[in-house]
Amino acid sequence: MDGIDMAKNFNIGMIGYGFMGRAHSNAYRKVNNFFDLEYRPVLKAVCARDEKKAKAFAEKWGYESAEADWRKLIERKDIDAVDICTPNNLHKEIAIAAAQEGKGILCEKPLAMDAAEGAEMVAAVEKAGVPNIVWYNYRRVPAVTFAKKLVDSGKLGRVFHYRANFLQDWTISADLPQGGQALWRLDVAAAGSGVTGDLLAHCIDTAIWLNGGISKVSAMTETFIKERKHNLTGKVEKVGIDDACAFLCRFANGSLGLFESTRYARGHKALYTFEINGEHASIKWDLHDLHRLEWFDHRDEGPLRGWRSIHVSDGEHPYMNKWWVPGLQIGYEHSFVHQVADFLDGLAKGKPAGPTFRDAQETQKVCDAVLASGRSGQWTDV
Ligand SMILES: NC(=O)c1ccc[n+]([C@@H]2O[C@H](COP(=O)([O-])OP(=O)(O)OC[C@H]3O[C@@H](n4cnc5c(N)ncnc54)[C@H](O)[C@@H]3O)[C@@H](O)[C@H]2O)c1
Repeated sequence: MDGIDMAKNFNIGMIGYGFMGRAHSNAYRKVNNFFDLEYRPVLKAVCARDEKKAKAFAEKWGYESAEADWRKLIERKDIDAVDICTPNNLHKEIAIAAAQEGKGILCEKPLAMDAAEGAEMVAAVEKAGVPNIVWYNYRRVPAVTFAKKLVDSGKLGRVFHYRANFLQDWTISADLPQGGQALWRLDVAAAGSGVTGDLLAHCIDTAIWLNGGISKVSAMTETFIKERKHNLTGKVEKVGIDDACAFLCRFANGSLGLFESTRYARGHKALYTFEINGEHASIKWDLHDLHRLEWFDHRDEGPLRGWRSIHVSDGEHPYMNKWWVPGLQIGYEHSFVHQVADFLDGLAKGKPAGPTFRDAQETQKVCDAVLASGRSGQWTDV
């Protein structure tokens, strides 16, 4: 029946309504307007500990109901999938309980506090046979997806180097407390690690996706501010996270990697960049200019050879024919819309979209090796 939307309802229960809660809710609301899908996400319930705030969020974003206890939410029969948007220390418990209830799971990154937790989560979703995905959303920025196509086409030839940075500057003040909304990132008990799990995890996920597995690492980590007041206890407490981390690595394909992340790079807010140097060509990408893919091809004619700046906004570029007309831009939030579209399409076709929990566990293992190497000062196998 042409023109009639026959999409089946897919009921979402979202836990946590902070930064990611908003990014995901926006994606669920928009996705069927732009993508033709067999499923339509329905905003069934949102959960957070403060019932009043959860209700206000539900009203603002169009959720049908609100819960104050995540266990109640995952037990509900009218929920098909649970979206985990809480701090990292809750991912494992919620994911395992949700898998046992037979729910699909969309889990925020990093998958877990560490690889031991991640392994339990992978086992739980695979045992239950439930759909699962982790929100490493940068894979679905069109220019990054296009980079993947270029790498997979073999146009770069043998890859020699992969380098990535993720730089911020928001924790330089020694007066910034740790713990609580957003600031849980500074509290090792809630975050598991600092920039390694928060920022480098994104860089590592993209790197593994584009350039294959990482086999060994040598890292340097630092905590510049050693003590901060804790928002929850009110006491000055030791800071347990890594404020900065840089590491070298070897990829399984023989290429060399160089990664750096910090929240102490004055002037940088979210400078995620990567560069790949191959035998024939190189690629560069920068989150601050996310539609651009810089491309250098040594096989171009001599005098005209140089870096090309491709505006990845044409209809033949990944995802772009779903949006406006060629040349018009989309933004950060669209990477989440793309992830929901791919997740639902994978569900309909029985071909799960990645990164699955199992894929994200590879990143978790690299993060563990990086942190272990930072402590020991030794090269460490992944
Ligand atoms: N994919 C990305 O680019 C990206 C970006 C930011 C954050 N994240 C990840 O998303 C997750 C959440 O980060 P955020 O920035 O949205 O944090 P946030 O502090 O903005 O929000 C966290 C939410 O979790 C809720 N919460 C905490 N404990 C809870 C509990 N016991 N029961 C129910 N709700 C609870 C809080 O009320 C809050 O709404 C983290 O795992 C983080 O690493 C991913």
